[in-house]
Amino acid sequence: MSHIEAIRPEGKFDKNRNMAGTSAKFLSVWDIQAYYGESYIVQGVSFDIHEGEILALLGRNGAGKTSTLRTIARLDNPSLKHGEIWLDHKPLHTMRSHQAAQNGIALVPEDRRIIAGLTVEENLRLAQIQPPIGWSLERIYELFPRLGERRAQEGTTLSGGEQQMLAIARALARDIKVLLLDEPYEGLAPVIVQEIAKTLAIIRDQGITTIIVEQNAVAALKLADRAVILDTGSVVFDGSAQEVLDDEALRARYLAI
Ligand SMILES: Nc1ncnc2c1ncn2[C@@H]1O[C@H](COP(=O)(O)OP(=O)(O)O)[C@@H](O)[C@H]1O
Ligand SMILES: [Mg+2]
Repeated sequence: MSHIEAIRPEGKFDKNRNMAGTSAKFLSVWDIQAYYGESYIVQGVSFDIHEGEILALLGRNGAGKTSTLRTIARLDNPSLKHGEIWLDHKPLHTMRSHQAAQNGIALVPEDRRIIAGLTVEENLRLAQIQPPIGWSLERIYELFPRLGERRAQEGTTLSGGEQQMLAIARALARDIKVLLLDEPYEGLAPVIVQEIAKTLAIIRDQGITTIIVEQNAVAALKLADRAVILDTGSVVFDGSAQEVLDDEALRARYLAI
């Protein structure tokens, strides 16, 4: 399938399926349009994800990747003015961010937000203050042995890679269904990127659905099952990750790699 065929023309989208909340897909994003004030940024984005899939959400700087993740997590900015987001038959588009979080959405932002003055373990325990609680500390340390070794160390003194692991671990400490990762590999050495990618594959095998936004498109595509490419706030490709790896012209056009 070429990337042109892969684009879903707006008119052909089956609205009824989503309106009824009976989507066969686990997470369905349908024609979302979101604004920062008057600025129209997310310009009608649609895609679906199956449960337990990893989707790479790619595109050049400023394409609208972070804004799309923030819209799905239902943060106040950008504000969603049109479209629907369904997670496991629940209408996220009617929710505020805390409700989306209670329904299983976890956004790990680019800056990781490790809380200063708290140890690794305190950062994790803080995530578990409110039910529903996710993975136990034991299970988290099994997946991230480095965090177990450094459980008493202040979180902000960890290396960049370890802080990223803590940010992901903190998401898993809550009972989540979907992990939204904004540039998790940013600033990390290739060997650490590989280590985190292995961990993300294990997390997928445990049934968590993931959207990964990355400038390191090749690394994200090697991990992902599917890829969606954005350009100026719209979807320009929706297909398998392998198709993007194989299509040099497509990558040159939309990813500049
Ligand atoms: N808080 C904001 N207010 C106004 N415009 C913003 C804001 N954040 C991002 N934008 C604009 O939205 C567009 C998409 O940004 P973003 O979603 O961060 O892109 P990406 O993550 O793909 O680099 C850019 O043109 C950016 O300048
Ligand atoms: Mg961004």
